[in-house]
Amino acid sequence: MRIVLLGAPGSGKGTQAKLLVEKYKIPQISTGDLLRAEVAGGSELGKRAKAAMDAGRLVSDEVVLGMIQSRLAKPDAKGGFILDGFPRNIPQAQALDAMLARLGQPLQLALLVDVEKDVLMKRLTGRRNCSKADCGAIYNIYFSPSKAGNKCEKCGATLSHRSDDNAETVGKRLQVYESQTAPLVAYYKAQGKLRTVKGVGPMGAIFKTMCDIIETQIRPLAAVMGRIDAVAAARERAAAKAKAVAKATAKAVAKAKDKQTAKTLAAKAKPAPAKKPVKAAKKPAKVIKKAAKPKTKAKKAK
Ligand code: AP5
Repeated sequence: MRIVLLGAPGSGKGTQAKLLVEKYKIPQISTGDLLRAEVAGGSELGKRAKAAMDAGRLVSDEVVLGMIQSRLAKPDAKGGFILDGFPRNIPQAQALDAMLARLGQPLQLALLVDVEKDVLMKRLTGRRNCSKADCGAIYNIYFSPSKAGNKCEKCGATLSHRSDDNAETVGKRLQVYESQTAPLVAYYKAQGKLRTVKGVGPMGAIFKTMCDIIETQIRPLAAVMGRIDAVAAARERAAAKAKAVAKATAKAVAKAKDKQTAKTLAAKAKPAPAKKPVKAAKKPAKVIKKAAKPKTKAKKAK
């Protein structure tokens, strides 16, 4: 199953992606997480990305697309994935379509988590994340605080506050979403892949709606695609068989021609051939016919 989660910063994409990973056993691929890992690791890419992230701008397409291409090539993405925070603009969406087309694995669903703007600020400024990368649990001091205070309920690691979750940067991120990411709604609608879920209310209820959409949208599609694949595979097998037959026939003909050539060569090599080649036999026959004609006329004349 190949899904894109769309939605404004703070709409709950990351929260829902983690639940989907648990249920469907496919990886969550978050460009935000990948970029933060680069920043934490102090890589050159991370240093370049940090400035854009802290300012609430998008990191360059070139950097993000390179990261996505190598992430999608990993074995765990072969059985499907949930893209969270990617694509972020039309060029990224077009590049994703091209990458997936090359892999023969087109996107199946773009799920928009729709939340009103005024809710987002409190969600983001109140967010706290587990600092352990392989846990990544998400809390909120207003809506869903950790029962362990400033520690993660699940793994005990310290909770952190993202550097871009301050009011000023959040304001900028929301503007960037409106101008650059929101047009993707029309992009996926035009492809017939867009479905929308209201992202307000209990997280469990939102998750259930998402699963219902996935089950109705992707499962039947998977069955149809399965049938199409089966027909295509049968066609390919038939074509391969026909090709093999043609190859074998051509080989036999070539072999026969070789025999003929060999015979011709052998005939030329011998002074008195036991059997004349067919072509060679035709010419003398014509000569005999021509030679016979005057005889007949001569007979008639008599
Ligand atoms: P990224 O990490 O992708 O951030 P984002 O898109 O801004 O999204 P968030 O992670 O902030 O929100 P979310 O929707 O995942 O919400 P969450 O589930 O955490 O990107 C960060 C930066 O990296 C970008 O600004 C950019 O610079 C760069 N970047 C990333 N991808 C890029 C790309 N493709 N191209 C270029 N640049 C890129 O929830 C938020 C809070 O709400 C949490 O506290 C949660 O507990 C709470 N919450 C969730 N659901 C509910 C609910 N139903 N009720 C109450 N609270 C809820």
